[in-house]
Amino acid sequence: MNTPLIKEIMTLSPEGQTVIIRGWVRTKRDLKNLVFIEVNDGSCFKNIQCTFDLSQLSEQEVIKGLGEVSTGVSVEITGKLIPSPASGQPVEVAATTLQVVGKAPADTYPLQKKRHSLEFLREIGHLRARTNTFGAVARVRSRLAFAIHEFFQHRGFQYVHTPIITASDCEGAGAMFQVTTLDLDSLGKSGKPADYSKDFFGKRSYLTVSGQLEAETYATALSRVYTFGPTFRAENSNTTRHLAEFWMVEPEVAFAHLEDNMELAEAFLKHLFTVALTDCREDLEFFNERIQQGIIETLEGVVKSQFTHMTYTDAVKELEKNADVFEFKPYWGCDLQSEHEKYLTEKVAGGPVIVTDYPKEIKAFYMKLNPDGKTVRAMDVLVPRLGEIIGGSEREARLEVLENRIKDLGMNPDDYWWYLDLRRFGTVPHSGFGLGFERLILYVTGMTNIRDVIPYPRAVGQADF
Ligand code: 4AD
Ligand code: MG
Repeated sequence: MNTPLIKEIMTLSPEGQTVIIRGWVRTKRDLKNLVFIEVNDGSCFKNIQCTFDLSQLSEQEVIKGLGEVSTGVSVEITGKLIPSPASGQPVEVAATTLQVVGKAPADTYPLQKKRHSLEFLREIGHLRARTNTFGAVARVRSRLAFAIHEFFQHRGFQYVHTPIITASDCEGAGAMFQVTTLDLDSLGKSGKPADYSKDFFGKRSYLTVSGQLEAETYATALSRVYTFGPTFRAENSNTTRHLAEFWMVEPEVAFAHLEDNMELAEAFLKHLFTVALTDCREDLEFFNERIQQGIIETLEGVVKSQFTHMTYTDAVKELEKNADVFEFKPYWGCDLQSEHEKYLTEKVAGGPVIVTDYPKEIKAFYMKLNPDGKTVRAMDVLVPRLGEIIGGSEREARLEVLENRIKDLGMNPDDYWWYLDLRRFGTVPHSGFGLGFERLILYVTGMTNIRDVIPYPRAVGQADF
């Protein structure tokens, strides 16, 4: 446990001190009497080079071990840390001992030195973290998850653990996975409707689509809260931006209006991009070179920029000016399609856009109704290349207005009795939003398929590993 990781060894000043390297072999090269082995332990992007000088090493063990070394083999190597004559690496290891810990026969190990397609790597999800790309994605994910906590904790937010299993449909979209212990086989055979009073929870229950409603109950007690956890949507959308299981970050703030919410979302994204640029530099340089050219410059640009604000009504006007370019013709009342979102960010604003005040028909029941009676205080943060990265709103804090909205939508106010209580007792204006964590990782890394920024993607027809 206490042996330094390669990341730490790389920063030591090389004075011939003895170091121990543990990890997985990426490559092995022979040059006359020298054998070079590049080892990676996932602690950083770079491999450490271990050089075996066969003219110095007579030990049978080492020579035998070298014969077993190929890509994927796990090794423990000791040697002296010396300055590296090779370019691109400050130090290397003049190796003296080698232990092959676990073999990886070259004829059966699926990961070879060559470049593999992302599609192929999805089929070997259990091994793909050993590649440059997936190692880098995993490190960026980890660092940004931590940065999310740092951002909120430094601003007086309390972390609330909202439930995964719930009986309420937050987004009212009906795309929920049901949770049940009823015997579906015998229920099907009986031909009778299910009796949910006999189900595990005594009523119909689901996997949550959002922790927002429960987060609101804590925001109206602790002022500033956030939840960060897995969410589930049974949407049948097989796109590069949708998962059935994804992680969402949802801050909720009491005494906050939509403007405060917009400000928070912008500061939040900029903080996360800044952390990625500073603390994940090596990984971002890789993405910049091999995955999405210019991604570093884009992120730096966004950090310095001011997000454009636009109402939905103005956004539709912009789209209508150029209606010909869209497959789906824009009109007031339509849900913005990803081609529209791309157009607004890439062609109109040239950067992130916060679109506000959407028609109430296309947004969830809890959003604050505007005086026009037609639009709600919604906000979507859109970014170039990706479209929606954040969705949020000011919440309807008026009991009667909210009750009417629920009824108008054909929902039963009794099901939301506790949510309505927040408006009965000590109601306050409050606002919040949800950031899709995988959308964030897509944006920061420049990866194009959301299935490649979560270790084990769950999507329609896919729950492997
Ligand atoms: O816009 P959404 O549906 O908003 C909510 O769920 C609110 N309750 C959030 C809130 O106000 N507290 O989802 C929020 C974000 C989206 O902007 C998107 O980034 C992400 O969650 N998201 C998905 N990410 C991956 N796969 C899916 N199927 C997603 N659906 C939404
Ligand atoms: Mg949304």
